[in-house]
Amino acid sequence: MNDSAIGIFDSGLGGLTAVKELVRVLPHENIIYFGDTARVPYGSRSKSTIIRYARQDADFLLSRGVKMIIAACGTVSSVATGLKDELPVPFTGVVVPTAEAAVRSTKNGRIGVIGTSATVNSGSYRQEILLRDSKIRVFQQDCPLFVSLVENGFISEKDDIVKLVVQRYLEKLKADGIDTLILGCTHFPIIARAISDYLGDGVTLINSGKETALYAAQLLKDRHLLTPCQSDGECRYFVSDTVEEFRRTAEIFLGRDVSTDVSHITL
Ligand code: DGL
Repeated sequence: MNDSAIGIFDSGLGGLTAVKELVRVLPHENIIYFGDTARVPYGSRSKSTIIRYARQDADFLLSRGVKMIIAACGTVSSVATGLKDELPVPFTGVVVPTAEAAVRSTKNGRIGVIGTSATVNSGSYRQEILLRDSKIRVFQQDCPLFVSLVENGFISEKDDIVKLVVQRYLEKLKADGIDTLILGCTHFPIIARAISDYLGDGVTLINSGKETALYAAQLLKDRHLLTPCQSDGECRYFVSDTVEEFRRTAEIFLGRDVSTDVSHITL
């Protein structure tokens, strides 16, 4: 048993979608979130830059004494794959838990993957899926504009701009006949309704934040690291850019106001 916080980081605020799921699955745990808002986006950067940033993000969380680290960021999870072996605490990214869930979900063996360009180019999801079932066909599409849409509040499934971008990015995957789609980026669950409306009920969406929260809970349980506390856990938020920007956007991701619990840090 261990009542230290769980550390979770992302390139920005998108990882709050994973925090929301983590609080749902592990309500008694304390959580420390770091969003690298000064350097977002990671998804269009080089491999070496993403790895350097990810190490710094994890070091910050370690300096706060966390008992486990979760990379909520699809890009970091796909590119900084060596991070797991460098850390003194248990670690998970989003790729393995999400790929496992997609393999369990598909009936017709056709899985779609959407994410940032760095995530799609890394082939991370394809690799983890094929490792589990080599007969599955994986269809990928990078959707960088989805991140901008969400960051700027274009999230309604009724919004014509959202509908148009969703159609442009997903028409090929729809034609490919996928029955399961991995939302391989922190921001995408926010526009899940628009995605689902376009693809139809026959396509199951896999939310990487949700699958990773369930995976992290099991990992903590297996290692006897769950908190003994029975009261509600506390969440603290840290960002590398202004706190005001966090206040503006965090509500979109969390669905509630957390403006008093956020601090600025410089890495
Ligand atoms: N958090 C990133 C991801 O999940 C999206 C934003 C970015 O490009 O940094 O891939």
